[in-house]
Amino acid sequence: MRGGIDKLHHLTYKESMETLILYATKYGAARQIAERLAEKMGGAIIHDLKQGGAPSLGQFEFVIFGSAIYAGAIRKEAKAYLSQNADALLGKKLGLFLCGLEEEKEKEHLEANFPPELLQAAQAACYLGGVFDPKKAKAAERLIMKLVAKREGYITTIDDSRIESFAKKMKAGQ
Ligand SMILES: Cc1cc2nc3c(=O)[nH]c(=O)nc-3n(C[C@H](O)[C@H](O)[C@H](O)COP(=O)(O)O)c2cc1C
Repeated sequence: MRGGIDKLHHLTYKESMETLILYATKYGAARQIAERLAEKMGGAIIHDLKQGGAPSLGQFEFVIFGSAIYAGAIRKEAKAYLSQNADALLGKKLGLFLCGLEEEKEKEHLEANFPPELLQAAQAACYLGGVFDPKKAKAAERLIMKLVAKREGYITTIDDSRIESFAKKMKAGQ
């Protein structure tokens, strides 16, 4: 029995060290996605790019990179990371996600925010939904959402089945 538990701990530890999830968020939705992805990947180290000091990529087999999107653009800390680390990301089993509500612009927004070689190399690249919470948003943001997206109330489009299929694509062909 004891051996069994030790083995389980060992596996959990090993798996969690295989995946790094880097994310950029303003209000926390991208972090929510990162956490749910970590679960579906069987454990992961997750890191908020705003904190700086991202773990070096060397030890990780899988790297998932995601950002919230505002006015068509990923967060500035996400842009900065990409411009400094694109080559290193190319050597990994890579996943890219956008966190936002304009899924109909998925192709346009992926192409505008990620270098083509990363998009081509990625095992999975897509929107994974977003949240609008009027209680967290600033007055100007509420106004933009009302005028542009015609939304006033709370909305979430994050869903587990899409996150699960993203994780499956990451692991496909292993
Ligand atoms: C001012 C404003 C602009 C936004 N612009 C976009 C956009 O261009 N495309 C999109 O898909 N979602 C857009 N959204 C929705 C956000 O991407 C969504 O709320 C997302 O979940 C935010 O993630 P975060 O909580 O990690 O910051 C916008 C939201 C606000 C408040």
